[in-house]
Amino acid sequence: MTQAQTPSAPNPPTRGLEGIVAGDTSKSRVDGAQGKLFYCGYPIEPLAEEGTFEECVYLLWNNELPTAAQLEAFKGDLLSDAAVPDAIWDVLRPLAPHQTLMDLLRTGMSALSAFDPDVAATRESSEGRDVLERRIAMRVQARIGTIVTGAYRLKQGKAPIAPTKGQSLASQFLTMLTGEVPGAGEERIFDAALTLHADHGFNASTFAARVTAATEADIYGAVTSAIGTLTGRLHGGANMRVMFMLQEIGEVDKAAAFVDDILGRPKGRVMGFGHRVYKVEDPRATVLRRMAKVLTDETGHTKWFEMSRVIEDRVKETKGIFPNVDFYSASVYGSLELDPELFTPIFAVSRASGWLAHVMEQHADNRLIRPRANYVGAPERAYVGLSDR
Ligand SMILES: CC(C)(COP(=O)(O)OP(=O)(O)OC[C@H]1O[C@@H](n2cnc3c(N)ncnc32)[C@H](O)[C@@H]1OP(=O)(O)O)[C@@H](O)C(=O)NCCC(=O)NCCS
Repeated sequence: MTQAQTPSAPNPPTRGLEGIVAGDTSKSRVDGAQGKLFYCGYPIEPLAEEGTFEECVYLLWNNELPTAAQLEAFKGDLLSDAAVPDAIWDVLRPLAPHQTLMDLLRTGMSALSAFDPDVAATRESSEGRDVLERRIAMRVQARIGTIVTGAYRLKQGKAPIAPTKGQSLASQFLTMLTGEVPGAGEERIFDAALTLHADHGFNASTFAARVTAATEADIYGAVTSAIGTLTGRLHGGANMRVMFMLQEIGEVDKAAAFVDDILGRPKGRVMGFGHRVYKVEDPRATVLRRMAKVLTDETGHTKWFEMSRVIEDRVKETKGIFPNVDFYSASVYGSLELDPELFTPIFAVSRASGWLAHVMEQHADNRLIRPRANYVGAPERAYVGLSDR
């Protein structure tokens, strides 16, 4: 028996859990072969292009679309709960010059639990937890954009802007960033981008949230785990790196050679391409490409889009892989003149809705998530005391 076949695990492991079905969910269905994505049965395209992000959040948390009255009440609750205590800024201000925005978001989210009157009770008993968690989820979704925009301003040496009521979450976010209320077109595109990023099966950050929740940890613990997981460049961290790549390339006629150079290197990766589940084009990329085209035509800044098309063609030709959600979201956010450092935190603002839906779903029918490991280390051996080593 080789070391890799020790009897510690019943089956050889699947690297990266590829293809493993790790649980049930009613939130989203990813059809990797057809390139389709559904939230609670609805295709994402009309949800993004005709609906609003608030409708999408309601859907993920209730498994049904709201009526007009339900949506009105839901939006009212969400938008009135967005302010965070000044103590959060006191925690983040000294860290702001030294940390990335994702680091600050992770710390800010964790600190927010100190000000939640319901959270302690959810740690000790599952009785009545669903009601408390619904209230907590509202607060987390309402406040995550406030933390991102406030932390961004702290990094620039500016004071956070308090949220205003009577807007959409998209408009509220953009207003807290700059102090300017966005135009209707800008708000619509940003809102659609939030909907497109909201949920995606057992993606890495959602799975991290569920693993944490399954220990009966609270929502803040689960969302903080998820934020840490989203940060990596193989997951949500890819979108800002797409923009860094576009900036580095600089001109459309340099794009193809740039791609060739990356793909010519051992293990070279072009950010924004490839996917574990989609074997055809990611449907979110299709919508975002459309949006990026409209936006760049409108603004006259067509360079990001043209460069992206050249990169897309070259990667497809050479590797046979397709753009994912992060590729065209970079051109969309870039055309909205958002700083690339905001791209992954914006993903977090949207994906929080999915994380929260999954944590509540996990807690509604919980079992500890605890896989086994295939031990490949040294065989059993005798301990040798320090003085004899
Ligand atoms: C998303 C991702 C992590 C999925 O990884 P995975 O399922 O483990 O896929 P693998 O790493 O096994 O890649 C399979 C093959 O495609 C290639 N590949 C995958 N993504 C690639 C990319 N972005 N650039 C170049 N080649 C890529 C790999 O080199 C490998 O080719 P090989 O068999 O010739 O070695 C991967 O595609 C990636 O790193 N993408 C870039 C980061 C990114 O955009 N992340 C956001 C995801 S939404």
